[in-house]
Amino acid sequence: MIHRIGVLTSGGDAPGMNAAIRAVTRTAIYHGIQAVGIRRGYEGLLAGDLVPLTRSSVGGIILHGGTILRTARCDAFMRAEGVNAAVSILKENDIDALAVIGGDGSFHGAKELADRGVNVVGIPATIDNDVAGTDCTIGFDTACNTALECISKLRDTASSHDRMFIVEVMGRHAGYLALETGLACGAEFVLVPELPVDLDAISEKIHYAKQRGKTHSLIVLAEGVMHASELADKLKGRCDYDPRIVVLGHLQRGGAPTCFDTVLSSRLGAAAAEALIAGRSGLMVGRVHGRIVESPLETAWTKKMHLDEDMRHLVDMLSI
Ligand code: F6P
Repeated sequence: MIHRIGVLTSGGDAPGMNAAIRAVTRTAIYHGIQAVGIRRGYEGLLAGDLVPLTRSSVGGIILHGGTILRTARCDAFMRAEGVNAAVSILKENDIDALAVIGGDGSFHGAKELADRGVNVVGIPATIDNDVAGTDCTIGFDTACNTALECISKLRDTASSHDRMFIVEVMGRHAGYLALETGLACGAEFVLVPELPVDLDAISEKIHYAKQRGKTHSLIVLAEGVMHASELADKLKGRCDYDPRIVVLGHLQRGGAPTCFDTVLSSRLGAAAAEALIAGRSGLMVGRVHGRIVESPLETAWTKKMHLDEDMRHLVDMLSI
């Protein structure tokens, strides 16, 4: 029987994390179980940085961006001594179950804890959407909408000046954010780390688009491909524009979560707490085809993810 559930947010923050913290806390309290927040992810866990979570202390946060528990990336947790120390700290503080809100790196840490007998469930949250076992991660939808809002403003000025903009979005290893926003904003090209870059094809398409009377060109570039300035240098002289660049960067991690992310966070947070209360552990919760499902934690990184190449084709086809 579980008595006290700990909750932490780890890795890069994502809009909706607060709604997930609230859902874990309120679900625990609803079932007569205490909730405790662990500040600054695994780093705070190792420092014993705890804060009691009550029904009211998670009030008013559902629509706030960031994470009230703050977050960190923790090198010490990559080593066995770090994980062992965390197990002892959890025991000393009577935390007999843990909800980890974060991406696949955070889930690796969660798996290490589960292997040492800690009851743990992962809640996938990252703007990169690069976690298998769920169709979407918490924060992805909001980040796409933020990028889209910015790009829509850029389109206005791009059209007025007959300009080409290269918009660099986040995503070191994954192009989901670039592809989704690129399709949504009608970009001419989307460049993602998973697929090769064809500079000839880019310059040719942009050239013909301009000849047909297009008043602007947009390229959405995932940061993992190359820096926007590098791409601009490569394209200068190869197409009819002097490209301007915009790097959206951490803007995409902030802001109030969308309705979609708030609902997703609430459903996943509640499902994680209920799984822990029922005595299930070593798993992650996710949303697959609209339903909340549980899968082993390692699904997050062992199940192969595929970028939807049909989406990339759509970007090409619809921007002729
Ligand atoms: O959380 C994911 C992410 O935003 C990636 O898209 C990005 O590459 C990385 O984190 C940036 O990390 P940091 O905030 O540590 O610079």
